Amino acid sequence: MCGIVGYIGTKRACPILLAGLSRLEYRGYDSAGISTIEKDGLSLVKDKGRVKVLEDKPEINSLKGTIGIAHTRWATHGKPSKENSHPHQDNHKIFSVVHNGIIENFQELRSMLEKNGYNFLSQTDTEIIPNLIHYYYEKEHENTVHAFLKAVRNCCLDLKGSFAIEVISKLFPKNMIVVRKDSPLVIGTCEDEKYLSSDIPAILSYTRDFYFLNDLEFALLENTCVKFYNVNLEEIDKPSSSIEWNAAASEKNGYEDFMLKEIYEQPTAIRETIGSKISLDNKCDFEELRFTKSYLETIDKIYIVACGTAMHAGLAGKNVIEKLCRIPVEVDIASEFRYRNPILNEKILCIFISQSGETADTIAALKLAKRCGSKTIALTNVIGSSITREADYSMYTHAGPEIAVASTKAYTSQVLLVNMLAVYFAEILGNTDVSEISNIKQEMLNLPKKIEETFSCKDAIQEFAKKIYQEKDVFFLGRGIDETVAKEGALKLKEISYIHSESYPAGELKHGPISLIENGITVISILTDSALMEKTISNIQEVISRGAKTLVITSHACDPSMFDETIQIPDTITYLSPILSIIPLQLLAYYISKEKGLDVDKPRNLAKSVTVE
Ligand code: AGP
Ligand code: GLU
Repeated sequence: MCGIVGYIGTKRACPILLAGLSRLEYRGYDSAGISTIEKDGLSLVKDKGRVKVLEDKPEINSLKGTIGIAHTRWATHGKPSKENSHPHQDNHKIFSVVHNGIIENFQELRSMLEKNGYNFLSQTDTEIIPNLIHYYYEKEHENTVHAFLKAVRNCCLDLKGSFAIEVISKLFPKNMIVVRKDSPLVIGTCEDEKYLSSDIPAILSYTRDFYFLNDLEFALLENTCVKFYNVNLEEIDKPSSSIEWNAAASEKNGYEDFMLKEIYEQPTAIRETIGSKISLDNKCDFEELRFTKSYLETIDKIYIVACGTAMHAGLAGKNVIEKLCRIPVEVDIASEFRYRNPILNEKILCIFISQSGETADTIAALKLAKRCGSKTIALTNVIGSSITREADYSMYTHAGPEIAVASTKAYTSQVLLVNMLAVYFAEILGNTDVSEISNIKQEMLNLPKKIEETFSCKDAIQEFAKKIYQEKDVFFLGRGIDETVAKEGALKLKEISYIHSESYPAGELKHGPISLIENGITVISILTDSALMEKTISNIQEVISRGAKTLVITSHACDPSMFDETIQIPDTITYLSPILSIIPLQLLAYYISKEKGLDVDKPRNLAKSVTVE
């Protein structure tokens, strides 16, 4: 959970590294630092605070080197402080290292190194890495790049946990070594420059050609070439992949915040998710899956496993897969699934949803499912992300880079993609009425236009935000599919406005939570499922009679005098309704956060990509 950047080329590394860090700040941002190879050895500038603090340091201007590494930290071991900031160096200042992840056995390694005369200046787990590299380098009998590589490899063999590491050395002023295990790192390549980053968008303005490392693969970089090695240090071939995202997609393009831009990108994102896969004339085709009827008929159960917003998209997936395919679906939170000894075997299909494709718990859950013989599908937004290298099959939302910590367009495109998967299964199984499938497809194709129409709620939502932004508690209610949206609406609000928000199935109110309803409290309800509407309205009446202020998001005609605020959204089929009904709730969370003067894109304590447990 942090950002690392690296540059090896012909230009001054420092400005490139700082620009990369700023783009990665959304991943974690309690301290930042940089180390470059200068004529007189390794530079090191770092401090607590955001990248801006680093940029403003006078020493930064004297860094002239063309090779460097940089880090924006999200502390796991040791409080945010200058000493604990990365890069870290060995006692002899020969190696500089940045690290993303957690070294679980650092205490043990630290004791071993202390016994061998090494001192530690920080409380981090990371500081053992440069010292361990030094320890192994000293054991080599030659001063070659291969010895450097071997020392890094030997160090990594001792590490338990997760890491993406970049290493530079004053002894090898033309090289950099990088390696990863369970933490993200991509290598962007141009003719005489190489760019390293925790994710693609940060370096997309320099190149579209990327290399992706598997766990414990090492890259030895020079500005003109990259060599790849496996854990036995045998050289391996690695093709580069070309990424279609354009650089503008990772800029704000005139919007005040990435979150707002990403909310408004949803019609385009949805079009991209549909791609050429949905048409009224042909069956939905995912050539990457190639599932057969006989295989699908053997499936006893589907697990959908994910975290946070992606898990909420999974709940929408359960709804549609169960109804169309008649296969039982269980949705699990990845951090629970991996430790609860779930029943897994070859008759279970597991779908993992992750925008980033780097979420540690989701990847661990996927590895567990694979070990137990279940087939695994990754549903992600990021080509080449770790999850795609682990899963048997990968499907992409193609929503473009999502930078704001609060997920918006990723959610709607995930809901759509899981619906498309359900249609794909249903068409193979052949047990759903053709006209129903055709109706779903037509509604999928109508979505971009209907999302545009939904945006017309913006002014009313902004006004409502002004009324409630000082609230302490907000409740969200819904039934069926609307309850899954209530969950996502509550998550959005609490993430970026810090208002305590809870969601409940409307019918559960009477079983406890209604005792919390008091005069003036805000209750937000989602009403799109016509079959359940009357029931939910009765529940809303119950809170109104206890003094609640009510906002209702509905796709049906309702008497507006019944509620304090009614937001009318276009109607669609139930399976797809979350894609429309979440939009007013995304906007509400956004405008409340703005009213409170908070940093919408970088909410406190949160990072975009949770690459540690
Ligand atoms: C979304 O607004 C959250 N920031 C968070 O819940 C997120 O969805 C979750 O961490 C999963 O991330 P992933 O999709 O990248 O795996
Ligand atoms: N565990 C390391 C630390 O606390 C790295 C954390 C990160 O990934 O930012 O410094």
